[in-house]
Amino acid sequence: MHVMRVNEPGREPVLLAAEVAQPCPGDGEVLIRVRAAGITPSELMWYPTTHTKQGTTRTGAVPGHEFSGTVAELGSNVSGVAVGDEVYGLNDWFADGATAEFCLTRPEWIAAKPASLTHEAAATVPISVLTAWQGLFERARIQAGDRVLVHGGAGAVGLFAVQLAHRSGTHAIATASGRGVDFVKRLGADEAIDYRASRFEDQIDAVDAVFDTVGGETLERSWRVLKPGGRMVTVASESGAATEQRVKDAFFIVEPNRKQLEEAALMIDRGELRVFVKATVPFSDASAAYSGKSADRSGFGKLVVAVSGH
Ligand SMILES: NC(=O)c1ccc[n+]([C@@H]2O[C@H](COP(=O)([O-])OP(=O)(O)OC[C@H]3O[C@@H](n4cnc5c(N)ncnc54)[C@H](OP(=O)(O)O)[C@@H]3O)[C@@H](O)[C@H]2O)c1
Repeated sequence: MHVMRVNEPGREPVLLAAEVAQPCPGDGEVLIRVRAAGITPSELMWYPTTHTKQGTTRTGAVPGHEFSGTVAELGSNVSGVAVGDEVYGLNDWFADGATAEFCLTRPEWIAAKPASLTHEAAATVPISVLTAWQGLFERARIQAGDRVLVHGGAGAVGLFAVQLAHRSGTHAIATASGRGVDFVKRLGADEAIDYRASRFEDQIDAVDAVFDTVGGETLERSWRVLKPGGRMVTVASESGAATEQRVKDAFFIVEPNRKQLEEAALMIDRGELRVFVKATVPFSDASAAYSGKSADRSGFGKLVVAVSGH
């Protein structure tokens, strides 16, 4: 099968086309014929892309751990899915990903694709919606009436966080810039702060929860706007490398969750959650898309690779 995989370690990471054997689903695994895969550019630098689970150097990783596609084959002891099902979801960060004709996953990591979405649109959803969902509901434990600050509200994760915070009856405040300011208001933000024009801490205080997708100085300045007892959540990749204990405590990595994917799909199909695709790139352009050298990046949402038909 055709894949796009990372070049040798030690060089600037790019993706190279390669021909590899089609994987075979083992116990508890499902083979997916990939139709589209989401792109997270920073993924080429992530630890699981460059290391194995055992900590040794990893070479030739296939990126793209969120996808939309069709169930092609079932391994042993698999229930709840059938060959031919159209599904979206995640696969293991350490496994070969979905910038490939086929990838392996587990039934508990996928759900029926939102019927109202194309495969390309559906592939942009899993990581971002689950990150927002788990950050707001499980970590920040938001409730109706809370004041919730979302940093990076116009980003791929932030746009779901703003919508979920709004739909949960919170007072949602989002930071964004330029056209993003109007965009987050259209998503349901009660207040939008242009982070390039003013400092958010001069505009607001006493929030019940901060959901941060930016990290660094933005996160550092956010502690002072939290109410006593308020909850801080950060998902920004640079927060993952923090040494400060309170940042480590606030950071988490998204986990696959079938039930949450099912609930998100229902909300999408009912028109309660909107999905935005920044651009769809052909399979052959995946490398350029990961390195930021292709595709119009002026829109909102995530980049996606169309895998079938290449
Ligand atoms: N831990 C996890 O499980 C997990 C999961 C998913 C993503 N992530 C991480 O989360 C981060 C965001 O991911 P993403 O996919 O949403 O990225 P993205 O689509 O690039 O969005 C980032 C957003 O942040 C905004 N921004 C930049 N600087 C800002 C500032 N100082 N104040 C407020 N907003 C600012 C950008 O707006 P402008 O366009 O105005 O610059 C952009 O809209 C990344 O670091 C990613 O690696 C982590």
